[in-house]
Amino acid sequence: MSRQPTSNAAPPAEEPKGAPPRPTEHAPSPLIEARSVCKNYGAFRALENVSIAVREGEFVSIVGPNGAGKTTLVNLLTGLLVPTKGEVYFKGRNIAGVGPVTLATQGMARTFQLVQIFPELTVAETIATAAVTRQGKRWRLLSPLPQDAEIATRVAEIAGLFGLSSRLATLSRLLSQGEKKLLDVASAFALDPQVILLDEPTSGVSTAEKHAVMATLAGAARAAGVQAIILVEHDMDLVAAYSRRIIALSEGRVLADLPPEKFFADPVIIETVVGKRRGVSC
Ligand SMILES: Nc1ncnc2c1ncn2[C@@H]1O[C@H](COP(=O)(O)OP(=O)(O)OP(=O)(O)O)[C@@H](O)[C@H]1O
Ligand SMILES: [Mg+2]
Repeated sequence: MSRQPTSNAAPPAEEPKGAPPRPTEHAPSPLIEARSVCKNYGAFRALENVSIAVREGEFVSIVGPNGAGKTTLVNLLTGLLVPTKGEVYFKGRNIAGVGPVTLATQGMARTFQLVQIFPELTVAETIATAAVTRQGKRWRLLSPLPQDAEIATRVAEIAGLFGLSSRLATLSRLLSQGEKKLLDVASAFALDPQVILLDEPTSGVSTAEKHAVMATLAGAARAAGVQAIILVEHDMDLVAAYSRRIIALSEGRVLADLPPEKFFADPVIIETVVGKRRGVSC
């Protein structure tokens, strides 16, 4: 579920808050890339000739009005959907037919626009299920968790990164909305990703809580050595604070692919992305 975008963004800080460390070599090859992709749903074309590339060390935000095609693009980049035309590459390999589960084991993790957690599992059990998957181990859902010392250590590490250490024994359904979002991202981190795609990680979170949620997950990404982050976000304050590059979609096309200082200096782009601000007397 999406919110209306906010448009009172502050000018971006010189160095974005959550960006992964810059790579030492210049212009590394893209970690993840879409080349001229189109996506049709029946007769409706949701994406038209979209080309983007994200490299090591980048924190890239994808923005745009509701229905612009942001989630469709994330679904193509993560192998959940197959393009109608064009190709998607992950670490130089065409991902056609690979599928999101295999991609996850190869270093690509994502979260969904609507939080995906099991309400009746504890925080520890939720993170453990992902950690078990990563390590290729099997865990019987009905057995107590975590018995495996290696998994237990990993669960404790990840919970610590996301400020959830004191909530390990808590049922997921009892968490605040912000904590649920963090748990969702924490589960994706348990897969040890090189690239993570976050589809509106602060949607449904209160304004007061969402800055803390974003700060926690950006800090966790840095601490965990994640190499690139792709963030879909409506809140332009968060986009301004964290992005090294901003890709704007409008009606399925790339409207802009710019560093924040150029993006926020262009009133036409801002108006398209966040809508015209109305005066109080209108
Ligand atoms: N499975 C589907 N079948 C038909 N149309 C779809 C489907 N999924 C998305 N669409 C349409 O494709 C367009 C792009 O949808 P998408 O969910 O990618 O937009 P979005 O930019 O993520 O929007 P939001 O900000 O609301 O999350 C919309 O017009 C949507 O209604
Ligand atoms: Mg969406």
